[in-house]
This record gives sequence, structure tokens and C-alpha cells, in this order.
Amino acid sequence: MASSQMVTSIKVKRAAGFIGAYVENLDLAADLDEAIVAELRRVLLTHKVLFFRDQHLNHASHVAVGRRFGTLHTSPRTQNLPDLEGFPEILTISPQVDEKLVGANREAIFRKNWNTALSGWHIDASQVVNPPAIAILRAERVPPFGGDTHWTNLVAAYEGLSPAVRKMCDGLQAEHTFWAAHNLDSSVPAERQAMEEIGSQRVAVHPVVRVHPETGERALFVNPSRTARILGMSPVESRHLLNMLFEELTRPQYTTRFSWAPGSVAIWDNRFTAHLAATDIDHLQGEDAVRIMHRTSTRGEVPVGPDGFESYATAGQPLDEPGAQIPATAGASQR
Ligand code: SIN
Repeated sequence: MASSQMVTSIKVKRAAGFIGAYVENLDLAADLDEAIVAELRRVLLTHKVLFFRDQHLNHASHVAVGRRFGTLHTSPRTQNLPDLEGFPEILTISPQVDEKLVGANREAIFRKNWNTALSGWHIDASQVVNPPAIAILRAERVPPFGGDTHWTNLVAAYEGLSPAVRKMCDGLQAEHTFWAAHNLDSSVPAERQAMEEIGSQRVAVHPVVRVHPETGERALFVNPSRTARILGMSPVESRHLLNMLFEELTRPQYTTRFSWAPGSVAIWDNRFTAHLAATDIDHLQGEDAVRIMHRTSTRGEVPVGPDGFESYATAGQPLDEPGAQIPATAGASQR
């Protein structure tokens, strides 16, 4: 049973110039008051990602916190892990768990197929028509160094563009696919299997600029991992424009970086941020490489552009559609 906590307002310390804030006086496992949840939501919308240290969440309290922010995704998982029994809302993200489940650190292997230096920056599940709105990630075990996560503010990136480019982007749409940032080799069985299982499962067309359903702000809604092309442009034009937007949205000035410790939690607005998961521990061995993270995500709205354009799927179902087929690489397809 969660204890209640006598906190009347939350203490926030900004993490960087454009994005991120540390929330310093809150026990997320406590029975949070409605007013505190509303305040948390308000600061989340302002700072886009919130960081919490020394928390004591387990799967049950993690799910309970997630539910304070919306309806959680509960897709059936093939992550057949005893400790996830009864918690279909939790996605475990871990090289070691991957190795146990499929015999390989799949993400590290696929990183070798990245086709640009910015591949890896992503908006969770932007290949679906209704990407998650709010994500909560907690660290169970992390390496003694490395393994940080970076976030970037997509509103700041949009606002940093010149008025002429903003105006052009306001009316554009782009296709998002799972493997947009990879060149997979169909002669390698594992890569062919991955392409077949999740390559074309879900493809969505989103506005290049998204209007936030709660704040009305505009943000770039493209990301280096999943955005494959801009509709209505030649491949060369599309590649040049996307590369420019990817460079813009990953400019260090719009980003913040979080070093995890066991018990750390990050909550982000997946509608208006992109993030880059740890990429600097693939070469490490033993305890230095152990990283076990758990994530919940709330259901998101179908994105809408400044001109009223609404995203649509060209393949696959929305997340959590009843009867949706979840492939063996389910964990990966949710990212
Ligand atoms: C994610 O991509 O949602 C997880 C980020 C991380 O593992 O650092």
C-alpha cells in the first residue's frame, strides 16, 4: 500500500537551457495528491523531460504512477520474463535481458547497420499512427559509468528554424518506418528475420510539424531513426531536407543528458521530444555493461499538423488495437 506524502508543491531545478528539469522533493511511490499530479503535468509540459533521483518504484508502483498520466499501453508482450508476469504495461529494455530472450544483444547488432551518424535519435514508436504520449523510464541496474540517455526539445528545434523554413515545413508530411535509420542486409538471416517481422508491420504518415494537443505549441515531428522520406519531394530533396532537420533537432544546445543511478526515473513528453538511448556500453563486458531499465507509456493522440492534417497509417494497426499481431521482436517494435 502506498503511503501518502505531504507535499504541497514540487521543487524543480532546471537541467539545461532548453529542456529538462530535476524534481527534487517527490516520492513517486507515494499516494500522490491530484493537485501534485496536475503540477507535475504542468512542469512536464514546460520542461518536456523530468528527472527524479533515489526513487523506490517497483513494477506495481511504476504502473500506478504511469496511470496518473493516462491510459497505459498494455500490448501483449512476448517478453517472457517471470518478473513481468502480471505487468503487461512494463517494457524491459536491457542488453542482458535481450541476450537471455533471443540469444543476442540485438540492439547493439542493429546499431552496426545505422546509416547516418544521427541514427538512434528517436521518438518512441513514431512508425505507428498513434505514438505514445508520455513515457516513464526507471533504472533498476546501470553500469558504473556510461549508459546515459539524451533528450532534445523539438519545439525549440522548430523555433530555431528561419520563418521561411518553418513555413515550408508547416505544410509537409513524412513517412515513418521502423528501419529508416538502418541498412539491413537480407542475406544475413537475423537481419532478414528482423526486416520481415517488424520492417513493414507499421508505417505511418505524420505531419512534419505537430501541434501539441495540450499546449498548442508547434514542434518538429521528425526523427533520424524512423523518418524515411518527405512526401511530394524527390528522394534527393527529401534526403537533404531531412538531414537539415535532423541536424537542427540534435543540436547540442537543445538537448540534455541524464546519467542514471539505480532508482532514477525520467518522465518525458514523447510528443515533443526525441531521445537517444545509451550507445557507449556495447563494447564493455561484465558488470560494466549491465543495464536493466523498465518503461511504461501512455496512449497518445493521432498527431495533427498546423494545417489540420491528421496522421494516418499506410501499414499496420495503431498501438494497442485489439487483435494487433505482436511479433517475436515485440520489445523492439515498441521503441
Ligand atoms: C527508450 O528508447 O525508450 C529507452 C531509452 C534508454 O534506454 O535509455
